[in-house]
Amino acid sequence: MFRIAVLISGTGSNLQSIIEAVESGILKCEIGAVISDNPNAGGLKLAEGKGIETFFFSGKTTSDKILIAVGENTDLIVCAGFLSILKGKLLEEFHNRIINIHPALIPSFCGKGMYGLHVHQAVVDYGVKKSGCTVHFVESGVDTGPVVLQKTVDVLYTDTAEDLQKRVLKEEHIAIVEAVKLISENRIAVSGRKVLIK
Ligand code: GRF
Repeated sequence: MFRIAVLISGTGSNLQSIIEAVESGILKCEIGAVISDNPNAGGLKLAEGKGIETFFFSGKTTSDKILIAVGENTDLIVCAGFLSILKGKLLEEFHNRIINIHPALIPSFCGKGMYGLHVHQAVVDYGVKKSGCTVHFVESGVDTGPVVLQKTVDVLYTDTAEDLQKRVLKEEHIAIVEAVKLISENRIAVSGRKVLIK
């Protein structure tokens, strides 16, 4: 069975979408672990309630601890609202096997400091007409890995950052499940920066 580990820092609504997709059979996967860098993350309680093993790691050795926790038989690591930067041996061992969901259309409105509501505030302030979310592979840069898939939403003249966040989050929940499904079904091929969906 395709085994995933999910990394979270907050509410875990993306994690919830993954759990629902596993329970409904849309995802033929098992969630081997939920790992957070925030001991109070709502997603940890959500996971514990489902009997999923959870871990809390923080500090400089977080990536090394994640590598140990996910073990040998994890196929994919899913960053679902995870705020720490992954580095070191974890990135080597899991090259093109870690995905992240970012709440904007990379390469716009991404990179250092661009997370959560900051992203949507920057989008609204800039006045663009479209935003959305991006699922991408994780590499040593921040939000720089090859793009797996994107979903778009309209940005309305009257939108506040909160309005836009709600609209984008709905698409994130669809995008993260779609990306995990494609990868678990071996329907993704990466060539340099480009990702082919087979
Ligand atoms: C959301 O803002 C999402 O855009 C980003 O992380 C944040 C938390 O998401 N990926 P979640 O509700 O904890 O999944």
